[in-house]
Amino acid sequence: MSVKILAIESSCDDTSAAVLVDDKILANCVANQAIHKEWGGVVPELASRDHEKNIVPVVDVALKRSGVSKNKLDAIAFTRGPGLMGSLLVGTSFAKAMALALEIPIIAVNHMEAHVLAHFIEEPRPAFPFLCLTVSGGHTQIVLVRDFLDMEVIGETRDDAAGEAFDKTGKLLKLPYPAGPEIDKLAKQGNPDAFKFPEPKVDKYDFSFSGLKTSVLYFVQKQLKNDPDFIEKNLADICASVQSRIVSILLKKLEKAATDLGITHIAIAGGVSANSELRSEIELLGKRRDWHTYIPAFQYCTDNAAMIAQAAYYKFLKEDFADQSAVPMARWSLGDRDR
Ligand code: KG4
Ligand code: ZN
Repeated sequence: MSVKILAIESSCDDTSAAVLVDDKILANCVANQAIHKEWGGVVPELASRDHEKNIVPVVDVALKRSGVSKNKLDAIAFTRGPGLMGSLLVGTSFAKAMALALEIPIIAVNHMEAHVLAHFIEEPRPAFPFLCLTVSGGHTQIVLVRDFLDMEVIGETRDDAAGEAFDKTGKLLKLPYPAGPEIDKLAKQGNPDAFKFPEPKVDKYDFSFSGLKTSVLYFVQKQLKNDPDFIEKNLADICASVQSRIVSILLKKLEKAATDLGITHIAIAGGVSANSELRSEIELLGKRRDWHTYIPAFQYCTDNAAMIAQAAYYKFLKEDFADQSAVPMARWSLGDRDR
């Protein structure tokens, strides 16, 4: 059976469309929104307006690049949540309207499930069961993945997400938003042992990052009293020290979960999985622990519609279609099948 799906992602500040044919991604277009840089973070209202501007051209380009005519589509998938309500509304309404016009079904996809399923876009694909550390701007989770659509969050952050830890510390250091990629770059020239930031004490497989942000704030404020140029002079060392602490917090919990559960197939996903230190450290840890590690290609780490299409493919095979009455869910826990 041939399956052709158009997928739309608009949960935060990237407008993306992808086309999948028979389990293969033929096109994946992403329009980033530069406007948020001026504000030092995503402004929800501006994000919705930009999605509204971008969605038609992004979908057009994706269809053109794939060579698939819209009349040949079997279904339209969209991110139903979690995410920003106004942003989700743009993708949801667009998908519903287009599907209605073409008289084809719609598929509602959970954004966090899609980040995990991004691992099935390309080889090597993980074997079940595997653990996925999903680290993004809004979430930090350890997910036990039993099957394509059978996942359980076994640990998560109690406050800030790992991406927020990067972005908020970056803001303190006057780096542009999003600061994750900037810190990654600067850290390469710095000494990760220059400054010691504390490790939070949290039970089981949960995380906490708000204390780290506060300790960097107090540390920097104290140093600035003695030297107003402290940040400029030590920027690379601060970035390297913060980054290495974030990575060590993430990997310690992931290692504990893998050991306790006896799972040896381990993946990382989400925007922060683009971080070069996290990527190299998980490979080293995997070699030491004899794990099979899975690290996504860069274009599938940050938000993209290819992962939405991949998740939709498995839902299509199960005929798991949504109703035209489906509305976005700003909060939607993984494993919650409610629609
Ligand atoms: O998954 P994503 O694109 O959007 C959400 O669903 O949140 O993740 C965005 C997050 C931002 O916090 C950004 O700073 C972070 O991913 N990020 C990185 C890197 N690239 C993106 N953090 C650290 N190092 C990177 N190279
Ligand atoms: Zn995401």
